[in-house]
Amino acid sequence: MTGSLEPRPLHGQRLLVCVGGGIAAYKSLELVRRLRDAGAEVQVAMTDGAQQFVTTLSFQALSGHPVRTSLWDSAAEAAMGHIELARWADRIVVAPATADLLARLAHGFANDLVTTLCLATTAPITVAPAMNHRMWQHPATAANLAVLRERGVQIIGPEDGPLAEGESGPGRLSEPGDIVATLAGGHAATAAARDLAGMRVVVSAGPTYEDLDPVRYLGNRSSGKMGFAVAASAARRGAEVVLVAGPVHLPTPAGVSRVDVRSAAQMREAVLAALPADIYIGAAAVADYAPRVAVPNKIKKTGEKLELDLVRTPDILAEVAAQTQALKLVVGFAAETENVEHYARGKLKAKRLDMIIANRVGIAEGGFESDQNALTAYWKDGEREFASAPKTRLADALMDLIVERLNA
Ligand code: CTP
Repeated sequence: MTGSLEPRPLHGQRLLVCVGGGIAAYKSLELVRRLRDAGAEVQVAMTDGAQQFVTTLSFQALSGHPVRTSLWDSAAEAAMGHIELARWADRIVVAPATADLLARLAHGFANDLVTTLCLATTAPITVAPAMNHRMWQHPATAANLAVLRERGVQIIGPEDGPLAEGESGPGRLSEPGDIVATLAGGHAATAAARDLAGMRVVVSAGPTYEDLDPVRYLGNRSSGKMGFAVAASAARRGAEVVLVAGPVHLPTPAGVSRVDVRSAAQMREAVLAALPADIYIGAAAVADYAPRVAVPNKIKKTGEKLELDLVRTPDILAEVAAQTQALKLVVGFAAETENVEHYARGKLKAKRLDMIIANRVGIAEGGFESDQNALTAYWKDGEREFASAPKTRLADALMDLIVERLNA
């Protein structure tokens, strides 16, 4: 059988492999060879540390391209500037990703070529960590990884096993074959996943704060994580995404333009200003009531009782759904503690939505502040359940359904 009949699952993919400075760098030579066997076009960038372990010449021979090592190499920049290289890549694969490199990526450093490329790209990023097991298990590394995961970075490995220093534990770079298989598996999704290119998606996320006086507000426990994950997922599929965010401390997902607001009234204004759009996803937990007036001075305690004078806020979702401009899909969220389907379907109808995504709140696992969530989507003549999963994964599954309903 000839080689041409072998499957080339990464055919046409442009992969930028960024090599970090660890002993596992030698395995990345094999990774580059296998990625090319799988049909990918590969370019390589190396950190200074990586060059202590493997030469640029080896990677050049295996990738078939000159290897990039510095931001300050004028000849290389003239051939292909680093921003151009960041744009060239369909995906960046950081392997091995050392503890130091993960920290710099998590904090948005751009102090060498590799971190600059990762910051300048809008392509998805995969990291394959490799390090000593104590460094892997250190809370600082765990926290950096959590930040990267939240941002939608794909993490492969590491494996458990013997490490370079004669010790054993988690920290071995995943086998090149396994990294290629994971990338090839994900490739089907990425290829199908440019299906929102040319579309404009507006997402609201997080809570709103309604000021009572200069020091107090009415708020809720929404973390914004679900809405941010949905916005990130839509951007990965090629959409132009505007994310209207209530007060949350979350990093802005790659490729998303963000508008920060505080109150329901500000959120309404920002959402309406972001229209027209093809899709609106109302994931924010908008306050239903706000103080009639926010008083300029601190409310002093007087009697035994304090009564607040609250008025209904505008229903942003219903207002967007009632717009005459050609929105293709309007999706709402419903947080319910009981009779989930009944209440969710009631809102679907009353607000004239195309779909509502309900989650049960108030149970031990999942809901507002959690990273996990279980959801059910309802539309006029159908429903779909999503089992408990990390919000980033759920967001991708929800976007699959949204695209399905868009084409229904
Ligand atoms: N929503 C909105 N504007 C509001 C209130 C809610 O856009 N002023 C949107 C939310 O973004 C979410 C959906 O409406 O998509 C939630 O519906 P809602 O009826 O507000 O749910 P609850 O506040 O949970 O309502 P209830 O207390 O009646 O269950």
